[in-house]
Amino acid sequence: MDIIETLNAAGQQDLAAHLETLSGDARKLLERDILSQDWEELKALYAEKSSASKADNVSADLKPMPFRIAEDNLKYDYWKEIGEMLLGKGKVAAFLVAGGQGSRLGFDGPKGMFDIGLPSHKSLFQLQAERLQNLATRVGHPIPWCIMTSPLNHEATVNFFTEHNFFGMDRDNIRFFEQGTICALTPDGKAVLDGDRLALVPDGNGGCFRALAQSGSLAWLVEKGIEYVFLYSVDNALCRICDPAFIGALADNGMMASASKVVHKANAQERVGIFAFQNNKPGVVEYSDLPEEYRDMTNPDGSLVFDGGNLAIHLFKVSALRKLQTGKLPWHTARKTVCGIENCFKFEQFLFDAFPQLGTMLPFGVIREEEFSPVKNAEGTDSPKTARTMIGKLHREWLVKAHVEVKPGKLYEVSPTISYAGEGLSRRVFERELGRNILEFEDA
Ligand code: UTP
Repeated sequence: MDIIETLNAAGQQDLAAHLETLSGDARKLLERDILSQDWEELKALYAEKSSASKADNVSADLKPMPFRIAEDNLKYDYWKEIGEMLLGKGKVAAFLVAGGQGSRLGFDGPKGMFDIGLPSHKSLFQLQAERLQNLATRVGHPIPWCIMTSPLNHEATVNFFTEHNFFGMDRDNIRFFEQGTICALTPDGKAVLDGDRLALVPDGNGGCFRALAQSGSLAWLVEKGIEYVFLYSVDNALCRICDPAFIGALADNGMMASASKVVHKANAQERVGIFAFQNNKPGVVEYSDLPEEYRDMTNPDGSLVFDGGNLAIHLFKVSALRKLQTGKLPWHTARKTVCGIENCFKFEQFLFDAFPQLGTMLPFGVIREEEFSPVKNAEGTDSPKTARTMIGKLHREWLVKAHVEVKPGKLYEVSPTISYAGEGLSRRVFERELGRNILEFEDA
């Protein structure tokens, strides 16, 4: 079938007609866009999603997933040791999914470049790079870092790292690659045009498994002997990247294909996905898909039944990533304005849909104040201000535990170059580093 026949068969006669009006480079570029898409799949997706309701995304057999706070487990220190040993043997890599558009934050650029307003003015990328470096130095082995971008932010991301000399990390140990894209459709199922090109949008963070494999990065990791991949989002200002205890816990649970960090939900309305079993398989239900009767369901003591919030911090065995590179994740739909057309269909895949496919997942409970401060919105909840305050309070806590006499009312920023998760601090270190790697500030 030629390109025009393919489009006609998929109900895209308008696009076929537009292509026929073009010539030269403009035609070639649009043809390239068209050939990058699976038109049969788009047709089927439109047919399915234009008639689906919210409840269709959730099975009737939905059960909560119990979890415990890992730090309370007697094995916690043992897990930490195993994790450090695995990191020290070069068995662990970090994988950042940073292809999102960050539309809620409204920052014009990749979210990782964003300065949340700490006294150091470090970007999210720099905070992550320094945590990784600190850990790598401590365990005595470099930690490979895969960074997934999208065609919309790839160049800006790579340029930012280059301008900052890769934050002192070895360039050869970092791999940038782009995720795939999918065409947005109008409310009546026609491909959206952006000028003479297709309106292609990133295919969701679930595109990460395909992109990791297709970019050659999975093979790169395998060649390095990596066995565990720590997968995380760009916007959690408190993320303990490659947390040794988390790695050790999965290593200690040989049967599990993956592990995920879980927090108690702040309240029923909190906009995080929840971990649950659907048809006895572990997975995550997005907050927008969770019917209110489940969302608000409480236990006799008043606590939420569906309480396990998803922080988007996961750990996969490489064998699981191999399986997922060919597996098909379901598509989710958002209705958004695209190129001035209201209520368009934007399709995306979510990485947490990997869990039902893998069949096993270890929930690893963590304390929100220590590990979860997403920067999603410009103001209000989950904003740069809340992240700044949470970092300031946590680092103040670290100093108090190290017997430092902190000033009342002050918050502190401890550079990840001197402490990954509160270790290595003392009064002497405080006196030496105050004004350099420890900065004092106020909650504005
Ligand atoms: P979010 O769901 O918060 O989306 O992404 P976002 O695009 O960053 O922000 P909004 O919704 O437009 O405001 C969670 C993580 O998944 C990544 C993001 O970069 C973030 O790290 N992501 C999201 C991708 O890598 N690719 C995508 O297509 C979407």
